[in-house]
Amino acid sequence: MCELVISGRRCLCGEVDIQGSKNAALPILAATLLTDKECVIHNCPQITDVEAAVEILRGLGARVSVDENTVCVCAANIDSNVIPKKLMERMRSSVMFLGAVLGRAGEAIICRPGGCRLGDRPIDMHIGSLRKLGAKIEEAGDCIVCHLTETKSENITLLYPSVGATENIMLMCAASGSSVRIFNAAREPEIVDLQNFLNLMGARICGAGTDCIIIRPAAKFGGAEYTVMPDRIVASTYSCAVSACGGEAYLRGAESEHMRLVLEVLKQIGTEVIKEDGGIRVAAFGRPKPLDMIKTLPYPGFPTDVQPLLSAALTTADGESRVCETIFDSRFGYAEELKKMGALISGDSHKIDIKGIPALHGANVEAKDMRGGAALVIAAAAAEGITVVSNVEYINRGYENIERDLTRLGADILRI
Ligand code: EPU
Repeated sequence: MCELVISGRRCLCGEVDIQGSKNAALPILAATLLTDKECVIHNCPQITDVEAAVEILRGLGARVSVDENTVCVCAANIDSNVIPKKLMERMRSSVMFLGAVLGRAGEAIICRPGGCRLGDRPIDMHIGSLRKLGAKIEEAGDCIVCHLTETKSENITLLYPSVGATENIMLMCAASGSSVRIFNAAREPEIVDLQNFLNLMGARICGAGTDCIIIRPAAKFGGAEYTVMPDRIVASTYSCAVSACGGEAYLRGAESEHMRLVLEVLKQIGTEVIKEDGGIRVAAFGRPKPLDMIKTLPYPGFPTDVQPLLSAALTTADGESRVCETIFDSRFGYAEELKKMGALISGDSHKIDIKGIPALHGANVEAKDMRGGAALVIAAAAAEGITVVSNVEYINRGYENIERDLTRLGADILRI
Protein backbone atom coordinates (compact mmCIF):
# COMPACT_ATOMS: atom_id res chain seq x y z
CA MET A 1 0.00 0.00 0.00
CA CYS A 2 1.47 3.37 -1.02
CA GLU A 3 0.93 6.79 0.51
CA LEU A 4 1.84 10.25 -0.69
CA VAL A 5 3.18 12.64 1.93
CA ILE A 6 2.69 16.21 0.77
CA SER A 7 4.03 19.34 2.37
CA GLY A 8 1.86 22.13 0.99
CA ARG A 9 1.80 25.85 0.31
CA ARG A 10 4.34 25.78 -2.55
CA CYS A 11 3.92 27.79 -5.71
CA LEU A 12 4.06 25.62 -8.86
CA CYS A 13 6.48 26.81 -11.56
CA GLY A 14 8.16 25.05 -14.45
CA GLU A 15 7.39 22.66 -17.29
CA VAL A 16 5.85 19.22 -17.40
CA ASP A 17 5.21 16.70 -20.19
CA ILE A 18 1.63 15.53 -20.55
CA GLN A 19 1.36 11.72 -20.75
CA GLY A 20 -0.61 9.84 -23.40
CA SER A 21 -4.35 9.51 -22.85
CA LYS A 22 -5.54 6.57 -20.74
CA ASN A 23 -9.03 6.67 -22.19
CA ALA A 24 -7.69 6.64 -25.76
CA ALA A 25 -4.95 4.04 -25.18
CA LEU A 26 -7.28 1.41 -23.66
CA PRO A 27 -9.74 1.02 -26.58
CA ILE A 28 -6.83 1.30 -29.04
CA LEU A 29 -5.08 -1.60 -27.29
CA ALA A 30 -8.35 -3.58 -27.52
CA ALA A 31 -8.49 -2.74 -31.26
CA THR A 32 -5.13 -4.45 -31.88
CA LEU A 33 -7.05 -7.75 -31.55
CA LEU A 34 -8.75 -7.06 -34.89
CA THR A 35 -5.67 -7.96 -36.94
CA ASP A 36 -3.18 -10.81 -37.01
CA LYS A 37 -0.44 -8.34 -38.00
CA GLU A 38 1.75 -6.41 -35.57
CA CYS A 39 0.57 -3.07 -34.16
CA VAL A 40 2.94 -0.58 -32.54
CA ILE A 41 1.34 1.90 -30.16
CA HIS A 42 3.46 4.84 -29.02
CA ASN A 43 2.75 7.26 -26.16
CA CYS A 44 0.90 4.66 -24.08
CA PRO A 45 0.89 5.91 -20.48
CA GLN A 46 2.76 3.71 -17.98
CA ILE A 47 -0.22 3.21 -15.66
CA THR A 48 -1.77 0.18 -14.02
CA ASP A 49 -4.88 0.29 -16.27
CA VAL A 50 -2.59 -0.16 -19.30
CA GLU A 51 -0.83 -3.02 -17.46
CA ALA A 52 -4.26 -4.64 -16.97
CA ALA A 53 -5.05 -4.23 -20.69
CA VAL A 54 -1.71 -5.85 -21.58
CA GLU A 55 -2.52 -8.77 -19.26
CA ILE A 56 -5.91 -9.21 -20.94
CA LEU A 57 -4.26 -9.23 -24.40
CA ARG A 58 -1.67 -11.78 -23.24
CA GLY A 59 -4.40 -13.93 -21.63
CA LEU A 60 -6.17 -14.08 -24.99
CA GLY A 61 -2.97 -15.33 -26.64
CA ALA A 62 -1.52 -12.10 -28.09
CA ARG A 63 2.24 -11.52 -28.02
CA VAL A 64 2.82 -8.19 -26.29
CA SER A 65 6.05 -6.35 -25.54
CA VAL A 66 6.26 -3.12 -23.59
CA ASP A 67 9.20 -0.74 -23.86
CA GLU A 68 8.50 2.33 -21.73
CA ASN A 69 5.67 4.12 -23.58
CA THR A 70 5.60 1.87 -26.63
CA VAL A 71 3.46 -1.26 -26.67
CA CYS A 72 3.81 -3.78 -29.55
CA VAL A 73 0.98 -6.25 -29.96
CA CYS A 74 0.80 -9.21 -32.33
CA ALA A 75 -2.53 -11.01 -32.08
CA ALA A 76 -1.74 -13.62 -34.78
CA ASN A 77 -2.35 -16.57 -32.44
CA ILE A 78 -5.44 -15.81 -30.39
CA ASP A 79 -6.23 -19.01 -28.50
CA SER A 80 -8.83 -17.86 -25.96
CA ASN A 81 -11.97 -15.75 -25.97
CA VAL A 82 -12.42 -15.69 -22.20
CA ILE A 83 -11.52 -12.65 -20.11
CA PRO A 84 -11.09 -13.87 -16.52
CA LYS A 85 -13.13 -12.31 -13.71
CA LYS A 86 -9.97 -11.10 -11.94
CA LEU A 87 -8.96 -8.94 -14.92
CA MET A 88 -12.50 -7.79 -15.73
CA GLU A 89 -12.90 -6.55 -12.18
CA ARG A 90 -9.64 -4.62 -12.25
CA MET A 91 -10.94 -1.95 -14.57
CA ARG A 92 -14.20 -0.80 -16.04
CA SER A 93 -12.80 -0.38 -19.56
CA SER A 94 -12.14 -4.12 -19.79
CA VAL A 95 -15.70 -4.18 -21.20
CA MET A 96 -14.14 -2.65 -24.34
CA PHE A 97 -12.61 -6.02 -25.06
CA LEU A 98 -16.10 -7.48 -25.58
CA GLY A 99 -16.59 -5.68 -28.93
CA ALA A 100 -13.01 -6.38 -29.99
CA VAL A 101 -13.02 -10.11 -29.09
CA LEU A 102 -16.42 -10.58 -30.76
CA GLY A 103 -15.19 -8.70 -33.85
CA ARG A 104 -12.14 -10.94 -34.03
CA ALA A 105 -13.24 -14.35 -32.76
CA GLY A 106 -17.05 -14.28 -33.00
CA GLU A 107 -17.31 -15.52 -29.40
CA ALA A 108 -16.53 -13.94 -26.06
CA ILE A 109 -17.05 -14.79 -22.41
CA ILE A 110 -16.62 -11.94 -19.96
CA CYS A 111 -17.73 -10.96 -16.47
CA ARG A 112 -19.34 -7.69 -15.45
CA PRO A 113 -16.54 -5.09 -15.35
CA GLY A 114 -15.16 -3.44 -12.24
CA GLY A 115 -13.93 0.14 -12.06
CA CYS A 116 -13.90 3.27 -9.94
CA ARG A 117 -16.50 3.66 -7.23
CA LEU A 118 -18.47 6.28 -9.11
CA GLY A 119 -21.88 4.72 -8.54
CA ASP A 120 -23.93 2.20 -10.44
CA ARG A 121 -22.33 1.69 -13.85
CA PRO A 122 -24.58 -0.56 -15.94
CA ILE A 123 -23.59 -1.85 -19.40
CA ASP A 124 -27.13 -2.18 -20.77
CA MET A 125 -26.42 0.12 -23.73
CA HIS A 126 -23.36 -1.92 -24.72
CA ILE A 127 -25.33 -5.20 -24.55
CA GLY A 128 -28.47 -3.78 -26.21
CA SER A 129 -26.54 -2.28 -29.14
CA LEU A 130 -24.38 -5.36 -29.76
CA ARG A 131 -27.55 -7.51 -29.68
CA LYS A 132 -29.23 -5.25 -32.23
CA LEU A 133 -26.17 -5.66 -34.45
CA GLY A 134 -26.46 -9.46 -34.40
CA ALA A 135 -24.68 -10.65 -31.24
CA LYS A 136 -26.42 -13.35 -29.19
CA ILE A 137 -25.78 -12.49 -25.57
CA GLU A 138 -26.76 -14.54 -22.52
CA GLU A 139 -26.24 -13.29 -19.01
CA ALA A 140 -25.81 -15.85 -16.21
CA GLY A 141 -25.16 -14.08 -12.93
CA ASP A 142 -21.91 -12.14 -13.37
CA CYS A 143 -20.99 -14.04 -16.51
CA ILE A 144 -21.83 -12.78 -20.02
CA VAL A 145 -21.59 -15.27 -22.91
CA CYS A 146 -21.66 -13.80 -26.43
CA HIS A 147 -21.74 -15.21 -29.96
CA LEU A 148 -21.62 -13.34 -33.23
CA THR A 149 -22.03 -15.12 -36.53
CA GLU A 150 -22.73 -12.11 -38.71
CA THR A 151 -22.92 -8.40 -38.01
CA LYS A 152 -26.18 -6.84 -39.24
CA SER A 153 -26.26 -3.58 -41.17
CA GLU A 154 -28.29 -1.42 -38.78
CA ASN A 155 -28.80 2.06 -37.43
CA ILE A 156 -28.22 2.30 -33.69
CA THR A 157 -29.55 5.21 -31.68
CA LEU A 158 -27.99 5.40 -28.24
CA LEU A 159 -30.34 6.70 -25.52
CA TYR A 160 -27.33 8.48 -24.01
CA PRO A 161 -23.98 9.26 -25.71
CA SER A 162 -22.06 6.60 -23.78
CA VAL A 163 -18.33 6.67 -24.50
CA GLY A 164 -17.86 2.95 -23.84
CA ALA A 165 -20.94 1.82 -25.81
CA THR A 166 -19.90 3.95 -28.81
CA GLU A 167 -16.40 2.44 -28.72
CA ASN A 168 -17.68 -1.12 -28.30
CA ILE A 169 -19.91 -0.79 -31.38
CA MET A 170 -16.99 0.63 -33.39
CA LEU A 171 -14.75 -2.24 -32.25
CA MET A 172 -17.26 -4.99 -33.00
CA CYS A 173 -18.25 -3.63 -36.41
CA ALA A 174 -15.06 -2.02 -37.79
CA ALA A 175 -13.72 -5.16 -39.41
CA SER A 176 -17.09 -6.66 -40.36
CA GLY A 177 -18.71 -6.49 -43.75
CA SER A 178 -21.64 -4.40 -42.53
CA SER A 179 -22.74 -0.79 -42.75
CA VAL A 180 -23.62 0.65 -39.34
CA ARG A 181 -24.61 4.15 -38.28
CA ILE A 182 -24.48 5.23 -34.64
CA PHE A 183 -26.78 8.13 -33.80
CA ASN A 184 -26.34 10.12 -30.57
CA ALA A 185 -22.77 8.80 -30.46
CA ALA A 186 -20.34 10.09 -27.84
CA ARG A 187 -18.22 12.92 -29.27
CA GLU A 188 -15.15 12.72 -27.02
CA PRO A 189 -11.72 13.29 -28.65
CA GLU A 190 -10.74 9.75 -27.55
CA ILE A 191 -13.42 8.41 -29.97
CA VAL A 192 -11.71 10.33 -32.78
CA ASP A 193 -8.38 8.78 -31.76
CA LEU A 194 -9.93 5.30 -31.90
CA GLN A 195 -11.44 6.05 -35.34
CA ASN A 196 -8.03 7.25 -36.61
CA PHE A 197 -6.31 4.09 -35.38
CA LEU A 198 -8.99 1.76 -36.79
CA ASN A 199 -8.85 3.53 -40.17
CA LEU A 200 -5.07 3.12 -40.21
CA MET A 201 -5.65 -0.64 -39.74
CA GLY A 202 -8.04 -0.69 -42.70
CA ALA A 203 -11.43 0.33 -41.32
CA ARG A 204 -13.72 2.79 -43.14
CA ILE A 205 -15.20 4.89 -40.37
CA CYS A 206 -16.13 8.55 -40.46
CA GLY A 207 -18.01 11.01 -38.28
CA ALA A 208 -16.18 10.49 -34.95
CA GLY A 209 -16.26 13.78 -33.07
CA THR A 210 -19.86 14.35 -34.24
CA ASP A 211 -23.01 12.64 -32.95
CA CYS A 212 -23.30 10.40 -36.04
CA ILE A 213 -20.61 7.83 -36.75
CA ILE A 214 -20.73 5.82 -39.97
CA ILE A 215 -18.99 2.45 -40.23
CA ARG A 216 -18.69 1.05 -43.76
CA PRO A 217 -17.68 -2.48 -44.79
CA ALA A 218 -13.92 -2.96 -44.71
CA ALA A 219 -11.43 -5.32 -46.33
CA LYS A 220 -9.02 -7.39 -44.19
CA PHE A 221 -7.23 -5.45 -41.47
CA GLY A 222 -3.45 -4.94 -41.42
CA GLY A 223 -1.01 -3.80 -38.75
CA ALA A 224 -0.56 -0.13 -37.82
CA GLU A 225 1.83 2.17 -36.01
CA TYR A 226 0.12 4.91 -34.03
CA THR A 227 0.79 7.59 -31.42
CA VAL A 228 -1.90 8.01 -28.73
CA MET A 229 -3.27 11.55 -28.18
CA PRO A 230 -2.24 13.54 -25.07
CA ASP A 231 -4.30 13.06 -21.91
CA ARG A 232 -6.64 16.05 -21.62
CA ILE A 233 -7.69 15.04 -18.08
CA VAL A 234 -4.09 14.89 -16.85
CA ALA A 235 -3.44 18.29 -18.48
CA SER A 236 -6.58 19.59 -16.71
CA THR A 237 -5.31 18.10 -13.42
CA TYR A 238 -2.04 20.06 -13.57
CA SER A 239 -3.91 23.21 -14.70
CA CYS A 240 -6.20 22.95 -11.65
CA ALA A 241 -3.12 22.40 -9.46
CA VAL A 242 -1.68 25.72 -10.71
CA SER A 243 -5.05 27.45 -10.11
CA ALA A 244 -5.04 26.11 -6.52
CA CYS A 245 -1.37 26.67 -5.63
CA GLY A 246 -0.52 29.72 -7.77
CA GLY A 247 2.48 29.92 -10.10
CA GLU A 248 3.08 29.38 -13.80
CA ALA A 249 3.46 26.11 -15.68
CA TYR A 250 3.97 25.05 -19.27
CA LEU A 251 2.10 21.82 -20.05
CA ARG A 252 4.09 20.40 -22.94
CA GLY A 253 2.00 18.38 -25.36
CA ALA A 254 -1.40 19.47 -23.97
CA GLU A 255 -3.95 19.97 -26.77
CA SER A 256 -6.04 23.08 -26.19
CA GLU A 257 -8.64 22.07 -28.81
CA HIS A 258 -9.60 19.11 -26.56
CA MET A 259 -9.88 21.36 -23.49
CA ARG A 260 -11.88 24.35 -24.73
CA LEU A 261 -14.47 24.42 -21.94
CA VAL A 262 -12.02 23.48 -19.18
CA LEU A 263 -9.72 26.32 -20.26
CA GLU A 264 -12.67 28.75 -20.39
CA VAL A 265 -13.69 27.76 -16.85
CA LEU A 266 -10.10 28.15 -15.65
CA LYS A 267 -10.08 31.68 -17.09
CA GLN A 268 -13.30 32.42 -15.21
CA ILE A 269 -11.71 31.42 -11.91
CA GLY A 270 -8.84 33.81 -12.63
CA THR A 271 -6.23 31.51 -14.18
CA GLU A 272 -4.38 32.91 -17.18
CA VAL A 273 -4.31 30.51 -20.11
CA ILE A 274 -1.99 30.98 -23.08
CA LYS A 275 -2.13 28.54 -25.98
CA GLU A 276 1.37 28.05 -27.37
CA ASP A 277 2.83 25.87 -30.11
CA GLY A 278 3.08 22.38 -28.68
CA GLY A 279 1.43 23.06 -25.34
CA ILE A 280 -0.49 25.30 -22.97
CA ARG A 281 0.85 27.79 -20.43
CA VAL A 282 -1.24 28.41 -17.30
CA ALA A 283 -0.57 30.99 -14.60
CA ALA A 284 -2.40 31.97 -11.42
CA PHE A 285 -1.74 34.54 -8.71
CA GLY A 286 -3.76 34.82 -5.49
CA ARG A 287 -6.93 32.94 -4.57
CA PRO A 288 -9.15 31.51 -7.35
CA LYS A 289 -12.40 33.37 -8.12
CA PRO A 290 -15.61 31.46 -7.27
CA LEU A 291 -17.93 29.97 -9.91
CA ASP A 292 -21.71 30.54 -9.65
CA MET A 293 -22.43 27.13 -11.11
CA ILE A 294 -20.63 24.48 -13.14
CA LYS A 295 -22.39 21.36 -14.42
CA THR A 296 -20.76 18.24 -15.87
CA LEU A 297 -22.02 17.14 -19.31
CA PRO A 298 -20.91 14.79 -22.10
CA TYR A 299 -18.22 16.29 -24.40
CA PRO A 300 -18.03 19.10 -25.47
CA GLY A 301 -19.56 19.92 -22.07
CA PHE A 302 -17.56 20.17 -18.87
CA PRO A 303 -15.95 16.73 -18.22
CA THR A 304 -17.06 14.76 -15.18
CA ASP A 305 -13.43 13.61 -14.84
CA VAL A 306 -12.33 17.21 -14.19
CA GLN A 307 -15.11 17.93 -11.68
CA PRO A 308 -13.20 16.74 -8.55
CA LEU A 309 -10.03 18.56 -9.67
CA LEU A 310 -11.82 21.87 -10.18
CA SER A 311 -13.64 21.48 -6.84
CA ALA A 312 -10.28 21.05 -5.08
CA ALA A 313 -9.17 24.43 -6.48
CA LEU A 314 -12.50 26.06 -5.54
CA THR A 315 -12.12 25.14 -1.84
CA THR A 316 -9.88 28.20 -1.46
CA ALA A 317 -11.79 30.48 -3.86
CA ASP A 318 -12.63 33.98 -2.78
CA GLY A 319 -16.39 33.21 -2.39
CA GLU A 320 -18.98 30.47 -2.83
CA SER A 321 -19.24 28.05 -5.77
CA ARG A 322 -21.72 25.37 -6.80
CA VAL A 323 -20.70 22.18 -8.65
CA CYS A 324 -23.32 19.90 -10.21
CA GLU A 325 -22.60 16.31 -11.34
CA THR A 326 -24.96 14.90 -13.97
CA ILE A 327 -23.06 11.88 -15.33
CA PHE A 328 -22.23 9.64 -12.36
CA ASP A 329 -24.32 8.98 -9.22
CA SER A 330 -21.48 8.99 -6.77
CA ARG A 331 -18.65 11.28 -7.76
CA PHE A 332 -18.34 13.46 -4.66
CA GLY A 333 -16.64 10.82 -2.47
CA TYR A 334 -13.60 13.11 -2.19
CA ALA A 335 -15.66 15.91 -0.56
CA GLU A 336 -15.73 14.16 2.85
CA GLU A 337 -11.93 13.88 2.67
CA LEU A 338 -11.52 17.56 1.70
CA LYS A 339 -13.67 18.42 4.74
CA LYS A 340 -11.03 16.72 6.94
CA MET A 341 -8.65 19.37 5.55
CA GLY A 342 -11.04 22.14 6.60
CA ALA A 343 -12.98 22.59 3.34
CA LEU A 344 -16.50 23.98 3.76
CA ILE A 345 -18.59 21.73 1.51
CA SER A 346 -22.26 20.83 1.78
CA GLY A 347 -24.65 19.13 -0.62
CA ASP A 348 -25.91 15.78 -1.85
CA SER A 349 -24.87 13.16 -4.40
CA HIS A 350 -25.68 15.46 -7.36
CA LYS A 351 -24.51 18.91 -6.32
CA ILE A 352 -22.24 20.52 -3.78
CA ASP A 353 -21.77 24.05 -2.52
CA ILE A 354 -18.21 25.05 -1.71
CA LYS A 355 -17.55 28.05 0.55
CA GLY A 356 -14.01 29.13 -0.23
CA ILE A 357 -11.64 29.73 2.69
CA PRO A 358 -8.14 31.28 2.58
CA ALA A 359 -6.33 27.93 3.03
CA LEU A 360 -6.97 24.27 3.86
CA HIS A 361 -4.82 22.48 6.46
CA GLY A 362 -3.02 19.14 6.26
CA ALA A 363 -4.76 15.90 7.33
CA ASN A 364 -4.74 12.14 6.74
CA VAL A 365 -7.05 11.50 3.78
CA GLU A 366 -8.00 8.54 1.61
CA ALA A 367 -8.32 8.39 -2.17
CA LYS A 368 -11.69 6.77 -3.02
CA ASP A 369 -11.26 6.78 -6.80
CA MET A 370 -8.74 7.95 -9.40
CA ARG A 371 -9.75 11.58 -10.07
CA GLY A 372 -10.96 12.11 -6.50
CA GLY A 373 -7.52 10.94 -5.36
CA ALA A 374 -5.79 13.40 -7.70
CA ALA A 375 -8.07 16.14 -6.32
CA LEU A 376 -6.79 15.39 -2.80
CA VAL A 377 -3.20 15.72 -4.05
CA ILE A 378 -4.02 19.15 -5.54
CA ALA A 379 -5.71 20.29 -2.33
CA ALA A 380 -2.75 19.03 -0.28
CA ALA A 381 -0.21 20.83 -2.47
CA ALA A 382 -2.06 24.09 -1.77
CA ALA A 383 -2.80 23.45 1.93
CA GLU A 384 -0.88 24.54 5.01
CA GLY A 385 1.08 21.75 6.70
CA ILE A 386 1.45 18.08 5.86
CA THR A 387 -1.16 15.82 4.25
CA VAL A 388 -0.92 12.06 3.87
CA VAL A 389 -2.97 10.64 0.98
CA SER A 390 -3.55 6.88 1.23
CA ASN A 391 -4.97 4.40 -1.34
CA VAL A 392 -2.62 5.83 -3.99
CA GLU A 393 -3.30 2.67 -6.04
CA TYR A 394 -6.40 4.42 -7.39
CA ILE A 395 -4.30 7.33 -8.64
CA ASN A 396 -1.75 4.96 -10.25
CA ARG A 397 -4.53 3.61 -12.47
CA GLY A 398 -4.57 6.82 -14.49
CA TYR A 399 -1.49 8.91 -13.66
CA GLU A 400 1.99 7.77 -14.73
CA ASN A 401 3.70 9.47 -11.83
CA ILE A 402 1.78 12.35 -10.29
CA GLU A 403 4.46 13.08 -7.68
CA ARG A 404 7.24 13.19 -10.31
CA ASP A 405 5.26 15.69 -12.39
CA LEU A 406 4.18 17.92 -9.50
CA THR A 407 7.66 17.78 -7.93
CA ARG A 408 9.05 18.98 -11.26
CA LEU A 409 6.77 22.00 -10.85
CA GLY A 410 8.07 22.64 -7.31
CA ALA A 411 5.64 20.71 -5.10
CA ASP A 412 7.01 18.78 -2.10
CA ILE A 413 5.67 15.21 -2.44
CA LEU A 414 7.15 11.96 -1.24
CA ARG A 415 5.84 8.46 -2.00
CA ILE A 416 6.27 6.03 0.88
N1 EPU B 1 -24.26 4.15 -18.75
C1 EPU B 1 -25.41 3.36 -18.65
N2 EPU B 1 -25.46 2.22 -19.42
C2 EPU B 1 -24.44 1.85 -20.26
C3 EPU B 1 -23.29 2.68 -20.35
C4 EPU B 1 -23.24 3.82 -19.57
O1 EPU B 1 -26.33 3.65 -17.91
O2 EPU B 1 -24.57 0.82 -20.92
C5 EPU B 1 -24.20 5.37 -17.91
C6 EPU B 1 -23.06 5.26 -16.89
O3 EPU B 1 -23.48 4.56 -15.74
C7 EPU B 1 -22.75 6.70 -16.62
C8 EPU B 1 -22.98 7.37 -17.98
O4 EPU B 1 -23.83 6.47 -18.71
O5 EPU B 1 -23.64 7.20 -15.69
C9 EPU B 1 -21.72 7.65 -18.76
O6 EPU B 1 -21.03 6.47 -19.02
P1 EPU B 1 -20.07 6.26 -20.28
O7 EPU B 1 -20.40 4.95 -20.89
O8 EPU B 1 -20.09 7.47 -21.16
O9 EPU B 1 -18.66 6.18 -19.55
P2 EPU B 1 -17.58 5.05 -19.65
O10 EPU B 1 -17.34 4.66 -21.05
O11 EPU B 1 -17.86 4.00 -18.66
C10 EPU B 1 -15.65 6.79 -19.95
C11 EPU B 1 -14.33 7.05 -19.28
C12 EPU B 1 -14.58 7.64 -17.90
C13 EPU B 1 -15.38 8.92 -18.06
C14 EPU B 1 -16.68 8.63 -18.80
C15 EPU B 1 -17.51 9.88 -19.07
C16 EPU B 1 -12.92 5.37 -20.26
C17 EPU B 1 -12.09 4.16 -20.06
N3 EPU B 1 -13.57 5.82 -19.19
O12 EPU B 1 -16.31 5.84 -19.11
O13 EPU B 1 -13.28 7.94 -17.37
O14 EPU B 1 -15.67 9.46 -16.79
O15 EPU B 1 -16.38 8.02 -20.06
O16 EPU B 1 -16.78 10.82 -19.78
O17 EPU B 1 -12.93 5.93 -21.34
C18 EPU B 1 -11.72 8.41 -15.71
O18 EPU B 1 -10.86 8.49 -16.60
O19 EPU B 1 -11.51 8.75 -14.51
C19 EPU B 1 -13.03 7.86 -16.04
C20 EPU B 1 -13.88 7.41 -15.13
